[in-house]
Amino acid sequence: MASYLADNQTRFLDELMDWLRIPSVSADPKFHADVLRAADYLKTRLEEAGVQNVEICPTAGNPIVYGEYLVAGPGAKTVLVYGHYDVQPADPYELWNSPPFEPVIKDEKIYARGACDDKGQVYMHVKAFEMMMLDGQGGVPCNIKFMFEGEEEIGSNNLEIFVKANKEKLKADVILISDTGILANDVPSIEVGLRGLSYHEVTVTGPNRDLHSGLYGGAVQNPINALCEMIASLHDANGHITIPGFYDNVDELSADERAEMAKAPFSEEEFKKSIGLPDSYGEKGYSSMERTSIRPTLDVNGIWGGYTGEGAKTVIASQAHAKISMRLVPHQTSDEITAKFQKHFESIAPQGVTVEVRPHHGGEPVVTPTNSVAYRAAADAMETTFGKRPVPTRGGGSIPIVAMFKSELGLDTVLLGFGLDSDAIHSPNEHFGVFNFLKGIETIPHFYRNYAAAQ
Ligand code: BES
Ligand code: MN
Ligand code: MN
Repeated sequence: MASYLADNQTRFLDELMDWLRIPSVSADPKFHADVLRAADYLKTRLEEAGVQNVEICPTAGNPIVYGEYLVAGPGAKTVLVYGHYDVQPADPYELWNSPPFEPVIKDEKIYARGACDDKGQVYMHVKAFEMMMLDGQGGVPCNIKFMFEGEEEIGSNNLEIFVKANKEKLKADVILISDTGILANDVPSIEVGLRGLSYHEVTVTGPNRDLHSGLYGGAVQNPINALCEMIASLHDANGHITIPGFYDNVDELSADERAEMAKAPFSEEEFKKSIGLPDSYGEKGYSSMERTSIRPTLDVNGIWGGYTGEGAKTVIASQAHAKISMRLVPHQTSDEITAKFQKHFESIAPQGVTVEVRPHHGGEPVVTPTNSVAYRAAADAMETTFGKRPVPTRGGGSIPIVAMFKSELGLDTVLLGFGLDSDAIHSPNEHFGVFNFLKGIETIPHFYRNYAAAQ
């Protein structure tokens, strides 16, 4: 197997780069045709690898690519592999060292939007399957169902509908996802938690038109000033979130659990250096590692209003806007936090303005088991290919569909991801290490074999 991988790695990389050339940006309708092309490309590659019944399942939005490989034999286990072929917008383009949809390999890394999140990681599954199907590669030891969506980055709304409508088709024993990361290339790890999300767009409205700031300034509430004050008040001096009841349901870890977490290799110095910061910052009483995993957060993702063009314009804007998101941890729920945020944010509007809160998509936090057959199969697979036992980590990102798989299909997920925090996902110059891509392809077949063999 190692030799097949070595002999074919150039082709594997070329195919991935062809796929990365298709700008499958789900957030922007102008890329719709490319999204469809990316789905088509994936369908063809799955078919070539030997996956059966590959279909492009239409939805009200972007299609879902589904295929399966069913092995004979009663009692054969079934793994449902999920991933996404849509990518984040590449803006701002000028900050890329090479164009986001013209992939290049530099310093042993593939640079392109989607290289790591998630096309590169999805493609590991396609090639791992190709490898297992070949004579002499050991065969496919269990049923595999592949389901790849094109709307993960915009909330997976249509996947949710698809899953609810296709429970029989999606029947499986476990979900396998490669859309997360490891701590370092010499420190394998498996994410066992994802945060939830509550996301809002807020609008503060003042006067009925933009005003001359000399004629009116001082006598009217300025919506931008008001919005800034409101946002500033959402944290106290200790970095705690001030929304009443925000922490009511937060699962507080025990001292033992926190001590266990602290054993994971994490360098505060490296962390600061990697993002060019003199100091880290966050909720008092917690480490950076904890702040980005087991603690809930609130961040402004964007803010706009007034005049932002060249030069100066003396104006008081009629409206100010912001996008505000909260990352949630067990046992917060997005509905609960959405209601609390909305009520609080409306209540803190100062005199002279009105505020509107519009909730966007949300998602629930999850913690996946570490004592399951599937987790052990993944940990053993990584131990084989990395030569080191992976450590379980709690991740900071969100994949809302994971909680849905549990509630709708009753299935746990294994997050067998191979990215690195430094891969710059969602940022300019996103990349994926060639090492990581190949290590994923090498590891995945071990997972299937370990899982199929386990009782
Ligand atoms: N793959 C990421 C999530 C992720 C990355 C989890 C790294 C753990 C480690 C996923 O594509 C993503 O970006 N999710 C969004 C949420 C979604 C609703 C837009 C996120 O976390 O912001
Ligand atoms: Mn992703
Ligand atoms: Mn993403």
